Amino acid sequence: MSSQDSRKRIAVTGGAGFIGSNLLLHLVPRYPGYLFVNIDCLTYAGNMGNLTTIETAENYRFEKVDICEFEALRACFDKYEIDSLIHLAAESHVDRSITGPAAFISSNIGGTFNLLELARERTANGRPFRFHHVSTDEVFGSLGKTGYFTEQSAYRPNSPYSASKASADHLVRAYHKTYGLEVVTTNCSNNYGPYQFPEKLIPLMIRNAISGKPLPVYGDGKQIRDWLYVQDHCKALDLVFHEGKAGETYNIGGHNEIENIEIVTSLCRILDEILGGEPRKKLITFVKDRPGHDRRYAIDPTYIKEQLGWEPKHTFDEGLRKTVQWYLDNEAWMESCTSGEYQKYYETMYANR
Ligand code: NAD
Ligand code: TYD
Repeated sequence: MSSQDSRKRIAVTGGAGFIGSNLLLHLVPRYPGYLFVNIDCLTYAGNMGNLTTIETAENYRFEKVDICEFEALRACFDKYEIDSLIHLAAESHVDRSITGPAAFISSNIGGTFNLLELARERTANGRPFRFHHVSTDEVFGSLGKTGYFTEQSAYRPNSPYSASKASADHLVRAYHKTYGLEVVTTNCSNNYGPYQFPEKLIPLMIRNAISGKPLPVYGDGKQIRDWLYVQDHCKALDLVFHEGKAGETYNIGGHNEIENIEIVTSLCRILDEILGGEPRKKLITFVKDRPGHDRRYAIDPTYIKEQLGWEPKHTFDEGLRKTVQWYLDNEAWMESCTSGEYQKYYETMYANR
């Protein structure tokens, strides 16, 4: 980077994943005066094909770097003189964390530690560095029938995924308290929308329902999640990154508490309306429950609303219909996820750059 270049330089880790892609598609055109560096090692969940509309933008760069590799990360931060970070890179799927927790420990805890150390290093001579850590409401564990997660809720993670995210949240907090690092943390509820890998509930059910496969509902299907359309989350991240108070945490949620079985039934109804054919509801199959399955998540978003004026724009019905239509319009994207075809995209597009 030229020393004449005085732009703000923001690293976005995990920018090729579901939320990261939606976030970069929101931020890159919106802030032409910043430089965004997408740092992603492209696990199975990273898909460069999500970012084709911004890949040649003047204010966007991509670096294939694993956040577990400190020296490679440092070289990347030095190359672009990174002065702020929105950290999304993580292993994110609870079921995978049950069958193979090791990657969750190394990426979610070790990777976050590396980024914190780099941020600390970069502030050593008094330069500012803003560290926005993107986390989940799953760190708070499971709620009973009533009550909400607030910024004061105790941490009670129950899965290897949520425990790894909770550990990262604690490290981020400690770097603020101990070293005075300028951090903000956001804990968001379940996202849904375009580009979500079809292993998560909503895209998995859409994909199976389109192809007439069983719709595997865990346990009794009465578990509750608080769903938020991904673009509403991205707007909240934009706001907190710019205006959130250092050392604070913000809970992000849309007051959309819905039982899993109700979501799967709604998806079947919407697909029946659009595609016709036999009622897809009959594909619903109750299967063995997930071990340690949290019963209910629900966010109280009062703090972010009062402090920063954030509110979600999409109702669940609107968001779900948009999401179904997106997956129908992008069936090739969805199929490429399961065939692994999308992983060739990086080789083709970036191997010689
Ligand atoms: P995702 O699994 O779709 O994407 C994760 C991205 O991180 C991928 O592009 C992957 O290649 C990259 N990545 C993983 N390990 C890496 C490593 N070691 N080095 C570099 N890149 C790596 O995840 P998502 O759903 O987009 O979630 C993004 C973040 O938001 C995560 O931190 C997750 O905990 C958090 N979050 C997700 C949700 C949700 O509902 N999806 C809700 C709240 C918070
Ligand atoms: P998921 O999308 O994996 O998100 P999380 O576990 O992080 O909340 O799952 C959402 C809910 O859907 C959760 O209660 C588990 C349930 N679920 C099923 O019933 N069947 C499935 O095939 C999947 C993937 C999830």
